[in-house]
Amino acid sequence: ESNLIERTKVRASDILQATVPAERVIQGVSLALRAKRLVGGDKPLVFKEQPIPDPADVPLERIDVSNPFMNRQGQWYPYFKRLREEAPVHYQADSPFGPFWSITRYADIQAVDSNPDDFSAEPFIVLGPPPFNAEMFIAMDPPKHDVQRRAVQGVVAPRNLREMESLIRERVQDVLDNLPTDRPFDWVERVSKEITGRMLATLLDFPYEQRHKLTYWSDTISGSADATGGTTHQDDVFPAAQELARSFTALWHDKAARRAAGEPDGFDLITLMQTSEDTKDLIKKPFEFLGNLTLLIVGGNDTTRNSMSGGVLALNRFPDEFEKLKADPKLIPNMVSEIIRWQTPLAYMRRVATRDLHFRGQFIRKGDPILMWYASGNRDEAKFEDADRLIIDRKNARNHMSFGFGVHRCMGNRLAEMQLRILWEELLERFDRIEVVGEPGYVQSNFVKGYSDMQVQLTPKP
Ligand code: HEM
Repeated sequence: ESNLIERTKVRASDILQATVPAERVIQGVSLALRAKRLVGGDKPLVFKEQPIPDPADVPLERIDVSNPFMNRQGQWYPYFKRLREEAPVHYQADSPFGPFWSITRYADIQAVDSNPDDFSAEPFIVLGPPPFNAEMFIAMDPPKHDVQRRAVQGVVAPRNLREMESLIRERVQDVLDNLPTDRPFDWVERVSKEITGRMLATLLDFPYEQRHKLTYWSDTISGSADATGGTTHQDDVFPAAQELARSFTALWHDKAARRAAGEPDGFDLITLMQTSEDTKDLIKKPFEFLGNLTLLIVGGNDTTRNSMSGGVLALNRFPDEFEKLKADPKLIPNMVSEIIRWQTPLAYMRRVATRDLHFRGQFIRKGDPILMWYASGNRDEAKFEDADRLIIDRKNARNHMSFGFGVHRCMGNRLAEMQLRILWEELLERFDRIEVVGEPGYVQSNFVKGYSDMQVQLTPKP
């Protein structure tokens, strides 16, 4: 009988998804959440920056690395160091996001990330509840995760990347050829955001002149105060999500019409979905359809962008490494890995214990949230010698944990690496010096480890 009920439930939701357009689904979810907030009296989180004391002055149990100003105040690394040394599996009982565990050593993070049976990625992978939880396979466990990932991963398969490479390179060249060289400018806006937006538009075959919308939607969704301590709120997020739903639905139908009219198939995600048996009717499942697209945009956006800014900053902090690079451009691929390690664009992923268990001497209860702090694991001296330094020919740079481990290991890692390799190849062709002027601005977040602005002065090659 229970089987029958399960099946009926599944069928009812399929019918709902099939008959209600994506945009309406978002609207429905928005209203339901707003009503829940009113009934429950939940207040959205708002963060005010206060000076963060040195870690040595804070009792261990009071340490809260979810403070979204940690990065801006340069405190994350000193706090992580103390946790790795004194409390590598640490419990914070009373954060604005509720209680959570922090895992800070490389080996322990790897153990948790490789064990989806005990540590579930459901229902979400950021600290607080996301404002827009469409069906994303990053927040699903096997076997459902595997089926959904398999359906879309062809878009970043090596053959497809080779197809995309020349277009991506042309778009990078165009950005770099139009940068000012007579004055400083904002690298984040002009280079990191712009190139990433172009890359994502290429991946989705999204209307090129509207590519800034991809960046805007993604920033609004990932900047949620409730989820990551950022600056956007539910009322900002839903209009963005609705517009995204409308645009992607139109993109799907437009692509279908063009293909029907005889346009040759491209190598973009929508074509891939429409030509694959598993996903050709995905438009009838708006949650899943939007989930997959949103995951690719949000997954590829802050991450690639902040690696582009972080690389420039790192080479300014360690100028000898820039000289090393200029003397031997063949170091670029290894440097790209080292930049991604040094930067760690996503500070953590969240898991939930699926049962009561002991881990490294601590008792973790079923349902407890656990943050795997990649940002800390990447600076663990037990794995990386002189871990705070950027060393572009570091032997084990590729062992960084910025892409995670196991079933959820970043699907876009090759694309991200290709994008960064192309950027640095083209930069070295053109510029002798790439100087960061003053201090960059830092993003307010406990999840995205990145930059809001960074003034840069370029000196062209003679
Ligand atoms: C998953 C980081 C670029 C798409 C992930 C995860 C991390 C991550 C930490 C989760 C790993 C885990 O839970 O074990 C990064 C970094 C990037 C980057 C640091 C750039 C330097 C991209 C790009 C795309 C992308 C360019 C696609 C356009 C995805 C997807 C997943 C994912 C789809 C989910 C994989 C799954 O759950 O099976 N990424 N990412 N990422 N990333 Fe990336």
